[in-house]
Amino acid sequence: MVKDQARTDSGAAPDAGVFGARILDLAHQLARWSEQPDDLTCTYYSPAHKAAAAQLRDWMHSAGMSAEIDAVGNVVGRYASANRDAKALIVGSHYDTVVDAGQFDGRLGILTGLVVAEHLRHAGRRLPFHLDVIGFAEEEGVRFSAPYLGSAAIAGRFDETILRRSDTNGVSLAALLQSEGTGLAAIRALARRPGTLRGYLEVHIEQGPVLLQRGLPLGIVTSIAGSGRFRVAVRGVAGHAGTVPMTLRHDAATAAAEIVLAVEERCSKAPTLVGTVGQLAVPQGAINVIPATCEFSIDIRASDDATRDAAIADVIAAIARIAERRGIAAEITEIGRHGAVPCASSMQSALAASVAGAGIEPFHLPSGAGHDAAMFGGVTDIGMLFVRCGNGGISHSPLETVMAEDADLAARVLLDLLVNLD
Ligand code: GLV
Ligand code: MN
Ligand code: MN
Repeated sequence: MVKDQARTDSGAAPDAGVFGARILDLAHQLARWSEQPDDLTCTYYSPAHKAAAAQLRDWMHSAGMSAEIDAVGNVVGRYASANRDAKALIVGSHYDTVVDAGQFDGRLGILTGLVVAEHLRHAGRRLPFHLDVIGFAEEEGVRFSAPYLGSAAIAGRFDETILRRSDTNGVSLAALLQSEGTGLAAIRALARRPGTLRGYLEVHIEQGPVLLQRGLPLGIVTSIAGSGRFRVAVRGVAGHAGTVPMTLRHDAATAAAEIVLAVEERCSKAPTLVGTVGQLAVPQGAINVIPATCEFSIDIRASDDATRDAAIADVIAAIARIAERRGIAAEITEIGRHGAVPCASSMQSALAASVAGAGIEPFHLPSGAGHDAAMFGGVTDIGMLFVRCGNGGISHSPLETVMAEDADLAARVLLDLLVNLD
């Protein structure tokens, strides 16, 4: 609940622009840690990932917080309340990235929490709750095709079956954790009890064009879309590219192409429904060989689970039809399904009050992307603030941009919300 009478003056905020310039500078510095010399790639427990974690922890220390890297790789900073028994309010997002990423996906949220905590500390302003700024270790699911490893651990939702999953080098998550000196028992111990939490807030770039088109710097998230993810292996018959007539082929790649189009067609039928084949390969393919195998991923999302599940059922039925007609086999493996998660109305109202207080029209929108916040749904009240992306809303790409002015407003709104939250 927000104290609506006599809103506390957050006029203790620094001059306009100070937060934004610092956030962008820190994001730029953090992007130096990468697995590739010419792009930003920071996947779970790579050397770049460990360096980024250490950097975040050091910045948190310099900001006057206690900070540590936990058993799953999260960077957990605390600006403590004067009341030792107070609950904790988490402000978090992730520092891992997709391959060839932008600098702001995930990181903007951590750095916004960091500069606000730093400001509160310098101002000597304590809150009635501990402010935990968390950089989650793994949200994108790049290394083990399993998203949310960091936030799931803190939310008490770590999926222990993922420990058996291996990365592309055959290293299992269990083996990786062991080599990092950690493991399941330590991860289980990270789970926060819901009664110890005041709430969860996440500032994140929108990763889409809606705010840009509306001319608004910020938006309040209503819900986070649910997703279903699959791997499909289509097996046909190899043959000579020059000798087998077109009518006698069982080409795995053309079957896959037809399936990709079926995903596109079915997922165009409802407003928040989307379907993507983001990985597609012909293993050991050659220019003069009819493909025997084609492997690909399918990711289907919607802001309600019924819409998503109906689309998944239809896509699976379409794969079976296509496979039968073409005389090929299709093996479908479900690798994860996450339900849609609503943001708490109390947090949406608190964000709306702070956004309005900054002179911005409070605008509500759903999130089509997954976020760490989703792991905390049902555990504590969650709220998310979207920040406008530039460049047509492009994200998961080095073309991702955010304006310093917008990051500045997001930090001011977060500060206002924190000092007015009971
Ligand atoms: C994470 O960025 C996702 O929505 O896939
Ligand atoms: Mn992302
Ligand atoms: Mn993200």
